[in-house]
Amino acid sequence: MIALLIPVVLLLLYWYFARIFRYWKTRNVPYIEPVFPFGNFKNVALMRESIGVFVANMYKSSKEDFIGIWVLTTPSLIFRSPELLKHILVKDFNYFYDRPVLAEEDVDFIGANMLFFQKNPEWKAVRSKIGAVFSLSKLRGMVTIVDKIGEDMMKYLKKSGNDFEMNSRELCAKLTTDVIVSCGFGINANCFEDEKSPFREAGKKLFDLTLFNCLRVICYFLVPSIARLFKISFFDPKGVNFLRRVFWQAIDEREESKISRHDLIDILINLRQSESIPNFVGDKLAAQSIQFYAAGFETTSTGFSFSLYQIALHPDIQEKLRDEIHQFYNEHHEFTYDNIKSLTYLDKVFSETLRMHPGLPFLNRMTMNDYTIPETKHVIEKGTPIYISVLGLHFDPEYYPDPEIFDPERFSEENIKSRPEYAYLPFGNGPRNCIGARFAVMVTKICVAKILLQYKIEACEATPKKIEYDPNSFLAAPKGALTLRFIKINN
Ligand code: HEM
Repeated sequence: MIALLIPVVLLLLYWYFARIFRYWKTRNVPYIEPVFPFGNFKNVALMRESIGVFVANMYKSSKEDFIGIWVLTTPSLIFRSPELLKHILVKDFNYFYDRPVLAEEDVDFIGANMLFFQKNPEWKAVRSKIGAVFSLSKLRGMVTIVDKIGEDMMKYLKKSGNDFEMNSRELCAKLTTDVIVSCGFGINANCFEDEKSPFREAGKKLFDLTLFNCLRVICYFLVPSIARLFKISFFDPKGVNFLRRVFWQAIDEREESKISRHDLIDILINLRQSESIPNFVGDKLAAQSIQFYAAGFETTSTGFSFSLYQIALHPDIQEKLRDEIHQFYNEHHEFTYDNIKSLTYLDKVFSETLRMHPGLPFLNRMTMNDYTIPETKHVIEKGTPIYISVLGLHFDPEYYPDPEIFDPERFSEENIKSRPEYAYLPFGNGPRNCIGARFAVMVTKICVAKILLQYKIEACEATPKKIEYDPNSFLAAPKGALTLRFIKINN
């Protein structure tokens, strides 16, 4: 009996996979040949390559405007053409308003209620309110906090002597943890004084590339059914629970003191009482605050440390930048949200850093209704996940000649105009873009400027010559430390 069953099962399996893997061929869509049983995601499933690098390699392997792939057995599309990206992200947003990630309250209540993962219609209602945290007037107010924490960073550097080596990733992680926790919750995380600050430890729990954290990411992106079955949360529950406790404590203290700081906590307290979002109570509020920390801390910290890394590798760019900052400081004597706009070379350096190291190396969207690709007869079926390779676009020689070279002049007004707008997407684009982009740029600009006013930074023996992204991260996180040498300048 068993001898008879085995060939039948094998035959059924073969038929099942053959049918799935014919999906794009039968629709006349150019595709990348899948491999049984991984589709096109073998190296990601086996933790050999990060999702971002892998999607970028698929982008690179084709010249088509869009290509069919299989995320394991799910037929999906990579869109390459910037013209079409404009449709997906902006013009036809109504067809692509959710992300294709698992967001189910009974699997991971906090995760499902984070803005990044949230589905419509709730996403829309929450986004319009949460966006207020980063209004222009709020950002202007936050500069004082960033400046103060930037000074704590300078004292910390001073304690290390006049010529020392330091892992810039850890330095930047301390800075961004303090900044995010202070601007969001009104709490001093004290990372520069306390090496064991519980906030820094929570950040490590959420983002350190432990085997469990990697498996979580793989489940969410590749096999959501397993995450669903075993009720696996996206982030480490210990880190999340710590932040949850802190959040409720901050709410209680704020309500008791009746002092308004116009920060995230105040906005969430008001939302709880508002009728515009019914049932916005309990851990739905905590989810937004944990989201604020999770989405802001690691991305900003990585962008900041990659900036220092690139500046250290390019002494001529560093000198030019320092001249600009000196001139700026002699004129203004302080940083404000408005005056840092005049640091235009610093702006170019940071833009080029995010081109080469986009924190989130790919974007994704879900097709919410059957959609005809403009100027073609191809119909994308409802439920098809869409991938956009930010890393692929940023290294495409068609838009960035000699893409491996770090050249801030790519971001001169003239050069920006000469490229398609959607070939640069470090913060995504459209209604679902990054809400913290202006905040991240402001923090990085102020803190890079503070460091360069007092220190020369150089590559040392321990500095990696070439960046290798960690295969276990869904962010573009470097493998290991970014150690740099800091030399005090006698101004
Ligand atoms: C250099 C730093 C940062 C980078 C590179 C970055 C990048 C991104 C990208 C690429 C997206 C997806 C956009 C899309 O799908 O179109 C995103 C979304 C998001 N980011 Fe950021 N981000 C950064 C900093 C921040 C900060 C500081 C915060 C808040 C404190 C933040 C909060 C968010 C949120 C809440 C979303 C989800 C938006 C939504 O789905 O509506 N990010 N970010």
